[in-house]
Amino acid sequence: MTKPIVFSGIQPTGNIHLGNYLGAVKNWVAGQAQKINYFCVVDLHGLTVPQDPNDLRFQTRSLAAMLLACGLDPNQCTLFIQSHVTAHAEASWLLNCITPLGWLQRMTQFKDKSAKQESVLTGLLDYPVLMAGDIILYDANEVPVGDDQKQHVELARDIAQRFNSLYEEEFFIIPEPVIPEIGARVMGLDDPTAKMSKSSAHIRGHAIRLLDEPKEIERSFKRAVTDSGNEIQFSDAPEKAGVNNLLGIYKALTGKSKAECEADFAQARGYGDLKKRVAEVTIETLAPIQNRYHRLMDDPTELDRLLAQGAEQARAIATPKLDRMKEMMGLVLPN
Ligand code: TYM
Repeated sequence: MTKPIVFSGIQPTGNIHLGNYLGAVKNWVAGQAQKINYFCVVDLHGLTVPQDPNDLRFQTRSLAAMLLACGLDPNQCTLFIQSHVTAHAEASWLLNCITPLGWLQRMTQFKDKSAKQESVLTGLLDYPVLMAGDIILYDANEVPVGDDQKQHVELARDIAQRFNSLYEEEFFIIPEPVIPEIGARVMGLDDPTAKMSKSSAHIRGHAIRLLDEPKEIERSFKRAVTDSGNEIQFSDAPEKAGVNNLLGIYKALTGKSKAECEADFAQARGYGDLKKRVAEVTIETLAPIQNRYHRLMDDPTELDRLLAQGAEQARAIATPKLDRMKEMMGLVLPN
């Protein structure tokens, strides 16, 4: 049986947080052995909002180290930096030329992000086309992402289908979004009605960043917004969103069933006990990840070696696919 091909990416902007880990990275790690995997630090996507160049450079390498620390194994997956494989930027131009503007203007993330900015960069609108190229260059069958990226993966499907119908049926594989059952949408601890986000991760008490110290983690959970009740149960009721989010984090981290999670808190005296226990489990999960991260960052030569190896493996797949696209579209390949 052929192994499914997996592609996913993460932006090196802001601090990687528990939402990114539970919604995406944990599942990348879990599926590694059974699949053919490409994981990408998408620095070109990072440029779609203004960045400090030194900061972006640091964050890109730091995030690659963090992904390895979380358990990505270079023997089981190809981990690389997007801009190291120039086929991504080129594919996005080619795909731009078959993507109707209206498809991009409809994207909810574009509408949300652009509404918050005075001057919107073209790259922000074009962001999902670059993302579509990322995925389809590798013939990915599966794209493991959090809930917020589902619409972008659906657009990648539309773009792949359009290319196929214009040039050659079945040239691109039509990818499927793979959304985890739990952890797909980790909410902000300070506001359980808004998703935990990198752009707000600097606000105290909003997110658990993977590099937070134990004391900071305890403090953030302690302050987490809940309600005035004391029932510790999964619930879709809007007023229970805070408790539901904490229980969801506990469930995703421990791998227990909903009933087991609720049973763990049957004797609890209130939300304080829940917050304390979720903080403990988080600290236990993050401690070994943080240790590995610091060791990797202490050895920049090894990190660069791994990233160069990943880029080479990725190029070997992406470049021939891009060349075929160019030929189909009528470009003359150099001799
Ligand atoms: P990014 O960098 O915003 O997020 C990385 C991954 O984390 C997930 N995520 C969450 N999951 C659960 N709860 C949350 N609060 C939460 N916040 C973020 C995201 O869904 C994502 O899976 N456009 C993508 C990066 C990208 C990509 C790709 C992904 C570029 N090319 C190709 C897949 C395939 C992004 O900005 O993710």
